[in-house]
Amino acid sequence: MQKQLTTVTDTLATWMQAAFTALYGEAIDVSGVGVVATGNAAFGDYQCNAAMGLAKVLKVAPRVIADRLVAEAPPHEAVARLEVAGPGFINIFLADAWLVSRVAALRGDPRGGVPQPGQGRTVVMDYSSPNIAKPMHIGHIRSTIIGNALDRMYRLLGYRVIADNHIGDWGTQFGIIIMGYRNFLDRTALEQSPIEELERVYVKSYERAKADEGWMTQCRRELVKLQAGDPENTALWKQFIALSLGEFARIYKRLGVAFDLVRGESFYNDRLAAMIALLEEKGLATISEGALCVFLEEDGLPVCIVRKSDGGYNYATSDLATVFSRVEEFAPEKIVYVTDERQQLHFKQFFTISRKLGVETRLDHVWFGLMRLPDATFSTRQGNVIKLEHLLDEAERRAFELISTSSPDMKEACRREVARAVGIGAVKYADLSQNPQTTVTFTWDKALALDGNSGPYLQYAYARIASVRDKYSERFPDGDLEAADLLLTGPAERDLMIRLLRFPEVVMRAADAYKPSMVADYLYELAQGYSSFYQNVPFLKAETGIRESRVLLCGVIAAVLRRGLDLLGIETPERI
Ligand code: ARG
Repeated sequence: MQKQLTTVTDTLATWMQAAFTALYGEAIDVSGVGVVATGNAAFGDYQCNAAMGLAKVLKVAPRVIADRLVAEAPPHEAVARLEVAGPGFINIFLADAWLVSRVAALRGDPRGGVPQPGQGRTVVMDYSSPNIAKPMHIGHIRSTIIGNALDRMYRLLGYRVIADNHIGDWGTQFGIIIMGYRNFLDRTALEQSPIEELERVYVKSYERAKADEGWMTQCRRELVKLQAGDPENTALWKQFIALSLGEFARIYKRLGVAFDLVRGESFYNDRLAAMIALLEEKGLATISEGALCVFLEEDGLPVCIVRKSDGGYNYATSDLATVFSRVEEFAPEKIVYVTDERQQLHFKQFFTISRKLGVETRLDHVWFGLMRLPDATFSTRQGNVIKLEHLLDEAERRAFELISTSSPDMKEACRREVARAVGIGAVKYADLSQNPQTTVTFTWDKALALDGNSGPYLQYAYARIASVRDKYSERFPDGDLEAADLLLTGPAERDLMIRLLRFPEVVMRAADAYKPSMVADYLYELAQGYSSFYQNVPFLKAETGIRESRVLLCGVIAAVLRRGLDLLGIETPERI
């Protein structure tokens, strides 16, 4: 097993816990004693607020406890000094030599110092999950982008991640689509743009069914035939799936997203009856007006129908069967579902029923708000449905203009390739840099801003930092960077080193909170820290030794930026 790195917070918390135990022994519980990074160097680099909580237990003033700890704590190589502030905060100032040695250990570490607490642990991640014969809507796009970032974060932390694209390939819409397909299909359109054409016939058939009872009856009949395994309808259904998956695959490729499994809801069909039997056996289901229902009043939730009066099963039934299958097959520590906010009730209901059925695996619903898109950019047809591909095309087109302005002498093929990475990166970053649970308004100006918190800004920062090494080699062909030492010569370097060592903690906290935006914020601040470093100290003009050290530090910063952007699924071209 690989050597596990400890984060700065863990190192300091362990030390503080031992120091408090040495002073007060069994009288206190130190398991909650921790430290937090400070925002202001005047209050130290990290701070421990434990004296406040312990004061209540020990019935001693917090300031007295903090003073005693500072006076008696055993020395630690990471710590230069301690100070007590305010009512009893313990400010921790890190030792420069230790900082340098820790950052030096990051040189050449492709993991950016991130430990692997997930080793031997499994997480199932259910994301993207669009519906067959319908275009992906903005909810599926956000689910794909956010879900994939979480997937990447958990993998970096050492988890075995089972990324499952739980596509909606079974449901009442198929009767309607089959009728639409038989009556309204335009073959040429189907060849050119299958999902669009399938959706067109779906909408047309749906509208007709709403107005025409006879049509509706025929749709239902086709659905029943499909469910009974009618060969002709089954063949059509399979064709719809193949066409849709083909189109989805193109989008996933553009987004750099890959799944371990693509199991549709239909995969669990033959488990549905057993699910119902289990619900009945446990006395959880009651017939009401012909439908089989699980009443969840005592849990403060509305009733959940698990079998309709016509015998059809519901979304919740399918998800229940899916949980059992996943638990059996993968024994995951948790299952994470990423969808838009409109499904909160569904997940609450089926999580609650899962518990009642004895599922112990942790189930988490990660939901996000809707994203408002620039209307003029899309030909919006039905309701909120937009096509992601138009968004990506437009992003690449705009990025190409940007790059052609900033690097006119770059070969066109190169500019196209960089524009692809920058355009896609801009769209992803615009999504991921926001707290997922707020309504986000997407604007091109913000997404592509070179001077603000955007994907392109970070990609440019990366390319600039990475080029420092090349410039160095050009100017000092005999310089030996490998042999050089990392030095800490001033506050700007110190600040950057502390930031670099926070990366692993940020990844762990972001994964835990399911918030890729925490990684984005961190990267933006790191890039800003680098900018002020770059503006305030000489690099190539610095004296020998210091020069090499600064170039080395740039290398570590570039590596962490790259690692971090990769977690967000954003590529880092070496030249922009
Ligand atoms: N296909 C569903 C939809 O588009 C999302 C599925 C989410 N995953 C799940 N296991 N329910 O609304």
